[in-house]
Amino acid sequence: MTSPLPSGEMLPQPVLNPPASVAVFLVATIEPGGEGAAREALGSVAGLVRSVGFPSPDGGLGCVAGVGSRAWSRLFGGRRPAELHPFRELAGPRHHAPSTPGDLFFHIRAARTDLCFALAAELLRRLRGAVTVRDETQAFSYFDSRNLLGFVDGTENPVGQAAADAALVGDEDPGFRGGSYALVQKYLHDVDAWDALAVEAQEKVIGRTKLTNLELDAPGSHKDINTVLGPDGAELRILRSAMPFGRPGHGEFGTYFVAYARTPGIPETMLRTMFLGGPGSGPDPLLDYSRAVTGSLFFVPSAGFLDDLPGS
Ligand code: HEM
Repeated sequence: MTSPLPSGEMLPQPVLNPPASVAVFLVATIEPGGEGAAREALGSVAGLVRSVGFPSPDGGLGCVAGVGSRAWSRLFGGRRPAELHPFRELAGPRHHAPSTPGDLFFHIRAARTDLCFALAAELLRRLRGAVTVRDETQAFSYFDSRNLLGFVDGTENPVGQAAADAALVGDEDPGFRGGSYALVQKYLHDVDAWDALAVEAQEKVIGRTKLTNLELDAPGSHKDINTVLGPDGAELRILRSAMPFGRPGHGEFGTYFVAYARTPGIPETMLRTMFLGGPGSGPDPLLDYSRAVTGSLFFVPSAGFLDDLPGS
């Protein structure tokens, strides 16, 4: 099942962009009557990125916009992405993945804080009164692509054509080719408990060495649990875009997790094993130190879809 990099109207939003130094993640719900402003804001994203980003070509400003299941029909009526549904809560004996409200998702990234800030501010100015912002997270890259647990994050992400195959909808849903599903969760870490572990114990939780980032043979580790094979034996892949965030003065240390996927079924399978456990694996030991506080699923339509929005 290949998906050649789409062109023309099915050109993706910048889903495949490499991780940036800074990101702002916005999740909002649309107020009754706010649909018109929400449509206008979605239609204006590409132009706003050009306006804010063009004077700073080295800033690498980009923005991915997504729409939640309940909002889709309110905004566009008509046909829906085949697999768009609300985030499915997972409640296990030890771990809980909540499903939290989200109609609009903006993933803004750049090399500079000011560019992300300026774009977020302008988008939200246009949405004032039309939406309630449910979450606003300012995230950053930390040392050499590490998370706040001190481990390198993102190593096994697919790149190039493999990233497009993992993240972008292809001919299986022709009206939404070039789109992507964004599964979004905000995690808070118990860094005191984590730091109390010996480095060797931390490495067994993650499945990699901490300093040198080498793979370990660590059954039951986070890495092991998330190496998922399909019926044909090929690895099922997602494109992760996780970024650290935090406010040390508030005791807040977290990871903002985004999985871009061609089908939401793949990250959902991973989540079920992580939170509930599966035959012979899980739950994920990482969750003893990481608590999910939000969970939403969005569809990120192609850039062409946003340029020419269908009627509601
Ligand atoms: C791998 C951290 C949540 C899926 C990794 C690695 C780290 C990590 C350090 C190893 C290096 C790498 O390949 O990136 C975290 C943290 C999380 C988190 C701190 C949140 C607290 C999740 C979730 C999913 C997931 C929610 C799935 C829905 C994966 C996958 C891999 C991975 C697929 C690559 C496995 C392989 O080696 O093939 N993660 N992760 N992670 N994680 Fe996570």
